[in-house]
Order: sequence, then structure tokens, then C-alpha cells
Amino acid sequence: MKNIVIPVNTPSGCYEVKVGSGLIRTLGEEMQRLGMGGRCVVVSGENVFPLYGQTALTSLRKARFQADAVVFPAGESTKSLACYGELMNELTDRQFSRSDCLVALGGGVTGDLTGFAAATYQRGIRFVQVPTTLLSAVDSSVGGKTAVNLPAAKNQVGAFYQPQLVLCDTDTLLTIPERELRAGMAEVIKDAVIGDPDLFDLLQHTEPARLFDALPEIIEACVRLKAEIVEEDERDVGRRRLLNLGHSFGHAIEQRSGYTLLHGEAVAVGTAMACRAAVSTGTLDPVSFDAILSLLRHFGLPTETEYDAEELFSIMMLDKKIADGKMNLVLPRSIGCGFKG
Ligand code: GLY
Repeated sequence: MKNIVIPVNTPSGCYEVKVGSGLIRTLGEEMQRLGMGGRCVVVSGENVFPLYGQTALTSLRKARFQADAVVFPAGESTKSLACYGELMNELTDRQFSRSDCLVALGGGVTGDLTGFAAATYQRGIRFVQVPTTLLSAVDSSVGGKTAVNLPAAKNQVGAFYQPQLVLCDTDTLLTIPERELRAGMAEVIKDAVIGDPDLFDLLQHTEPARLFDALPEIIEACVRLKAEIVEEDERDVGRRRLLNLGHSFGHAIEQRSGYTLLHGEAVAVGTAMACRAAVSTGTLDPVSFDAILSLLRHFGLPTETEYDAEELFSIMMLDKKIADGKMNLVLPRSIGCGFKG
């Protein structure tokens, strides 16, 4: 595939999202081009680092970075205050200064933890996102949301902090486990529903067995939509909230499952719940409703939950998306058009 460069221009930072094959090998020179140098810690997960860690470190060292890695266990439990504290201590032990930098090599958990560490270490150091899952490529690596979880609520402690660069190496998509790839499709379908009817059409005509061939086009569409949205509303006070479709229910389900459900799986159920709510309030027509639920199922995603609705609502009341005691649910109006309810 050809390499794609998508600019993201937010009030607090402008950067490029590069999508293409073999990009991890260019990590060091890309960072050097952006004026970075000195010490660099690659933060990664124990499942991702063995696959791409050495390539990243070699590239950084070739570009004269003093590069090293900190590797955490895989999974949501790493997005914790404990791991955040561990990373802060690691940076302090290595005498990291404000001119040094971090690289997040992995999925959403690694990106969120690393971004929050970068946002807060000595009040902010530069960092680069290298997403290696579909979910992080299309959603979490772009737009500067960084956070860790508290036991009571997901993403409760965090910051808006933009990366210097997002390097999405499409070769990494080859090694994504099937379940994670499917889970990533929940965010893709969400994007199609809230803002891209052409993407929705493409997805309807993509056989899951041939998904890999369509991924570059899918990633490009999602990143372009996300860039446009975060440029307009970096701080999530307006249009960006559309990206939360399915997330209020989804976060509650994910948390209730003790994180045994993947984020994307929970978002798929949450999207289906938001669509049901939209049909029952008359904002979404039944034909679009059927099309959205069929698309989720087409990619093997769940659309039902066994958890008690009241229990989910009490978890949802702790969500950041509650303002003045009111829950702002994103409800779809038609395919390609979401709105805040
Ligand atoms: N993941 C939703 C957002 O970035 O706003």
C-alpha cells in the first residue's frame, strides 16, 4: 500500500498520522526530523514488545537516541495508578529530563498509560504513538486522550495531551489476534455510524475473511474522520462527544465484566443499546437500526449483555460523561449522523 500522511491540527498541538508498511523501522529518523533526541523509553506490553520492540530500539539507536524499554503485562490492569507510578519512578531513576521522550508501542492500554505519563512527567515531555492494534490505530492513538483507570471507574485520571507523531505501521496488523481485530471493528463501525456513510457501505460489502485487504482504506477513513472531529473539538465539549457512541453503556459493561470483555466488544454491545434507545425514542428508524446491528454481527461482535440494567446504570453514574447529574448519551439519528441526546 502507499504511505498516507494525515495532518492533525489541534489548538494544543499539530502532528502527522503516518499510515503505511515498515514504518517502525523509520521511528528514529522520524523523531529526529521532529527535533527529538536524547533519552527515549519505549513503553510496551509483554505481548507486543517481543514482536516489534527490537526494531523500534534499533531504529532509535541508529538515530543516536539513548533508547531503552519498559515492558508491562498485557491487559487493562496495566492502565492503573500502580503502573503509572512505576513508570514515573523508572523515568526518575533514569534521570529523564524534559528534553527526553517516550514512545508508546502497543494498543490502547499502552498508548493511554504512556500518554498520561508523558503529560505529567515533569509537567510534560514529548511522546510518539506507535499503535499496533486496530483499535489504537483507528481511535485511541489519535486525538490526545490519555488516562489510567481507578477501580471504580475507567479513565478517571487523565489528561488531554497530544503526541508529536502517530506512526501506524500496517505490518503490525498481520499479528493482531483475531479477537482483538474483531473488537477493533466496533470502533470502526462506530465511526461509520456517527459520520461516514461511505465507510458504512464499504464495511457492509467487506467479507470478514477478506478484512485485512480493506484495512488500509478503513484506517484512513477513520483517522481522517477523527482528525476532523478533534480539530474542531479537542476537549470533548461538543462534536467529539459523538465518538463516545456506545461508550457510556460500553464502559459500564467492560467494568462489570471485570475487563474480561475487550473494550471493543463492550462498545459493540453499548452501540446496540444506544441504537435500541434511539429507536424507542423515535430518533432512529428501524431500517437503519437493523443495518447497524447486522453490521456488528457481520463482524462477529456481540449486541446483547446479560448484566442487569440497573447495575449498569449505577456504574454509568460515575462516568465522566455525566454533567450536572445528567447523562449525555450519544444516540444515532441515521447512518452517518449521530447526535447527543
Ligand atoms: N475515543 C474517543 C475520543 O477520542 O474522543
